[in-house]
Amino acid sequence: MSLFQGSSNYTERKEFEIESVTSMRVNQYKNKYFKPRHVLFADVFCGAGVNAIGDEVVDGSPVRLLNGYLKSATPNLPFNSGFWFSDIRSEACEKLSSLTKAKFPQLPKEPQIRVMSAADAINHIGDVLARHKDVFVFLILDPNGPKDFPKLETEHLLSVFSRRIDVVPYISATTINRCLQARNKAGRDFDWWISGIENFDSGFVSALTQNERKGWIRKPIPGDKFRWTMLPTFGCMTPRNDWSKQGYVDIESDEGQAAIKVYCGGTNGK
Ligand SMILES: C[S@@+](CC[C@H](N)C(=O)[O-])C[C@H]1O[C@@H](n2cnc3c(N)ncnc32)[C@H](O)[C@@H]1O
Repeated sequence: MSLFQGSSNYTERKEFEIESVTSMRVNQYKNKYFKPRHVLFADVFCGAGVNAIGDEVVDGSPVRLLNGYLKSATPNLPFNSGFWFSDIRSEACEKLSSLTKAKFPQLPKEPQIRVMSAADAINHIGDVLARHKDVFVFLILDPNGPKDFPKLETEHLLSVFSRRIDVVPYISATTINRCLQARNKAGRDFDWWISGIENFDSGFVSALTQNERKGWIRKPIPGDKFRWTMLPTFGCMTPRNDWSKQGYVDIESDEGQAAIKVYCGGTNGK
């Protein structure tokens, strides 16, 4: 099986950040003011758990998520933990399943690993949230590109369960804009997607921060022509420490809005 799942110079940084965000959030979920008694850690574009970057093989997002979890999961966690990993490729799920069995025997519960589209997985997660009122979801979204991105499903989930879900998407603004241009040239109207990224009143960024949710956006990295960014957003317990040293700013701050303009095709003030 090819381990190449679509990578860039920034993939390793992404994987590291997924581990760090997970670890930070598990620490916050331990706070006595965090009420849910169950947390489902989910990654609905999980891949095989390994990622080839040139000649190097690095841990993929589900392994990073589990590493981050175990870093902060003390023995008497005040909540039960579950793990949901899904991907459309069955061979990726098989590989991940044997990898997690070998590498993470210490988990409180074996991860559920399913061959499924991200859209179906998000709908399943919505069912879980609807049926179990004391569940909180930590959700990583790492699609190949906009066509796979479960934008509407995620927006729906966020509108119904805004306070019970953290969503951490990793996306390339350039890929999105390119796809749009190509599709627009073909005479089709795909403005909904770009407005989804840039428009604070009706778009995806505003869906991530609706109902007083808070979140961060990673500022553009100089020289990154694909304009990758990560948007960790929080259903409750907004982190008190910021990650400004790592290039993250509050989505609603002036710096956050300036970053979004750059991701939408602006020039970073130059
Ligand atoms: C960019 S890779 C990310 C892999 C993993 N998150 C990592 O960091 O190693 C995207 C993954 O999404 C999967 N994928 C593509 N379209 C999908 C869809 N519609 N639903 C679910 N998974 C999909 C691919 O098989 C691939 O493993």
